[in-house]
Amino acid sequence: QMHQQLQQRMQAQMQQHMQQQIQARMQQHLQHHMQNQQNQHMQNPNMQQQHMQHEQHNQTPQPPEPPRQNQNPLTGAPYTPRFYYLLEKRQRLPAWMARQDFLKLMQANQVLVLVGEPGSGKTTQLPQILLDAGYHVQMGQVRAICCVQPTPLATLSASLRICEELEVQVGTFVGHVTRFEDRTSADTLLRFLTDEALFREAMEDPLLERYSVIILDEVHQRTCELDVLMGILKMVMQRRPELKLLLLSSSMEVKKVQAYFEGGAPLLQIPNRTFAVEVFHCQDAEKDYLKAAVRTVAQVHTTEPEGDILLFLPLEDEIDLACQLLRKESVHMMNFGDLQVRALYVGLPIMETQRVFDQTAQMRMTAGKPCRKVVVASAIAETSLAVDGITYVIDAGLVKQRAYNPRTRMEVNVVTPISKSSALQRTTLAGRQRPGKCFRLYPEQASSDWPEKVYPEIMRSNLTTVVLMLKRLGFDDVVHFDFVDPPSPEALMRALETLNFLGCIDDNGNITEVGNQACRLPVDPQIAKMLIEAPQHRCSNEALSIAAMLCSLPVWLRPNDAFRAANEAKARFAHMDGDHLTLLNVFHAYKQQIQDGHDPSRFCAENFISIRAMRHAEVARDHLKRIMESIGLQMISTDFQDKEYYPNIRRCLVSGFFMQIACLESEKRGAYSMLREGQEVMLHPSTSLGHRPEWLVFHELALSSKLFVKTGTQIKPEWLVDIAPRGYFDPQKISEKSSARGKMEKLMARRQGQDG
Ligand code: CDP
Ligand code: MG
Repeated sequence: QMHQQLQQRMQAQMQQHMQQQIQARMQQHLQHHMQNQQNQHMQNPNMQQQHMQHEQHNQTPQPPEPPRQNQNPLTGAPYTPRFYYLLEKRQRLPAWMARQDFLKLMQANQVLVLVGEPGSGKTTQLPQILLDAGYHVQMGQVRAICCVQPTPLATLSASLRICEELEVQVGTFVGHVTRFEDRTSADTLLRFLTDEALFREAMEDPLLERYSVIILDEVHQRTCELDVLMGILKMVMQRRPELKLLLLSSSMEVKKVQAYFEGGAPLLQIPNRTFAVEVFHCQDAEKDYLKAAVRTVAQVHTTEPEGDILLFLPLEDEIDLACQLLRKESVHMMNFGDLQVRALYVGLPIMETQRVFDQTAQMRMTAGKPCRKVVVASAIAETSLAVDGITYVIDAGLVKQRAYNPRTRMEVNVVTPISKSSALQRTTLAGRQRPGKCFRLYPEQASSDWPEKVYPEIMRSNLTTVVLMLKRLGFDDVVHFDFVDPPSPEALMRALETLNFLGCIDDNGNITEVGNQACRLPVDPQIAKMLIEAPQHRCSNEALSIAAMLCSLPVWLRPNDAFRAANEAKARFAHMDGDHLTLLNVFHAYKQQIQDGHDPSRFCAENFISIRAMRHAEVARDHLKRIMESIGLQMISTDFQDKEYYPNIRRCLVSGFFMQIACLESEKRGAYSMLREGQEVMLHPSTSLGHRPEWLVFHELALSSKLFVKTGTQIKPEWLVDIAPRGYFDPQKISEKSSARGKMEKLMARRQGQDG
């Protein structure tokens, strides 16, 4: 019955699709493919029955119109010269040249793994090739092709690039969905999604029936989300034999992934065509690799023949700083030609990241003088975004990685050495167009004990969100879920426990109403819980603003030459009770500027606030608000004059983050202890708190020289007892190492005294 309903829904959708949406030329295009597909299905006895069912919905063929030259069939507009320019480039890409083999293997297999070096055209060409071959028509229905990318930046970049190549508007024929943005329509046949977005679609449509092909890009990165998606898709494919899965990789390390699928997924390798790269190592370990990096760029620029430079650094801050230094430096090197500096990392606005693709040849032409480009990038440039024209790679040999300790429940980002396979991958990027050079900012022997390859992220991640999603999708027994590489049982148990504390699953492990609501909100379960509880604490609007700010980019800018001014600006917004409330102040001030008709960018510049972060927060807030309303959460606020205005917000923070509480141990050192774990942590110097409150709720941990808590707000211990689940803060549950144990004992005794 369920199946029938689904079918009816699909048919209704399909009719609508056919009737109103697709333009006349598009329909012809489809018609042609449908007939082809029908012929194929007739030869396949298993498919025949399904084919018969759908036949009645096929439209009567229209007389074909002769195709007009130079006209874009998708828009009816004439192609511009740029289209032909790009087309010629595209047709020279290895992925395009492997088209015939690729289509043959796609036809013959349900799952295909395809390997090709970065820049060979996997991401941009293969989806178009599938579309041209008619893969969007399946069993008489129009279905979309889905391309999943591991980051929002890669998602956006791919979508924009293909729109450019096809000369269509974003959101029409090609579009993308990221966490807070959906730029697709019912017509969109090529849908670029972040991994998380596909999870969310699976919640609405468990068999993902809107798709005929699903492409998972960059599977060699083995991100936690892609791994789990592979598991889900493996099940879906059993129920939907017609669904095709294409796994793309920029590295040969895919044996594990191939073996994971029934009978072993076949592999197609697009022929490599890289040139030799000469590798140089530093003599000694560089203490200040940032300085060494800048020095090396200058050296290449002043002594090496033409060719662009790609510099790998682990942290976003360092990338910004290196760009600043290089821009200053470039002034002194004018004799050697212009040095154009570009940054590339997740979190930059998309327009800025697209500028890394600016062609040096073109820059040279417009500037009328020699010119060289240096791209300072995070690991995203290793495989996800391939920049052309690179001849020199400079590699610090480090990467920012997630690390998770289930025992202490701590997930932190740490800078670690890259794997040997990453080091090689980075090196080969210098030889994509011609022979190149790679300068490694570490001595050769240093890399001898580096890991061979990337350790799957699922083994070092906090699994709370993933486990909740799996529960929601009906995988009850997550411990026995068919993972490519199973995470540690301890990490899974921790995730289940956390979800239980948050009320997202009950004691039997079944998903609860709160859990279902949390799944609808595209934020961490803790923030989701805070939003769900907000109406009860009478601070829905405020919790929403704080949540949006927490999900956004770093808010405070710290320009090197205006450190003091930046700190003074920050102090103007500081709330004495904590950083969450400071964030709220900033958001309110920003909105006020807009309301008063002022230009918010000026306000942001004057106060060293990132306008990008603010815009991002605005979008996130609107999106989250719509969802909150749609799941029946009321928008209630306390009057600003009411003395409970801020305490209500602070209580609401505790309702989501009661697992992240710190208790003061030493005022002088600013040292705190985490309650259940006993671990010592320090309050991060970036805090806007002027004093050291006895109790803090905090948003995150950061590991550098010490372990720091970031974004903290003062709370009262009574709230912990009232708001956290029963028994969570029983004194015996608190670490003996924390003074909170004694304090909580006293508090409980006092309370019992009051009750009696
Ligand atoms: O996915 P893969 O690494 O195999 O390559 P791709 O991302 O499809 O890139 C194919 C070609 O398009 C490369 O030469 C890229 O440099 C180029 N490209 C570009 O010029 N601008 C973009 N926004 C994306 C790709
Ligand atoms: Mg790619």
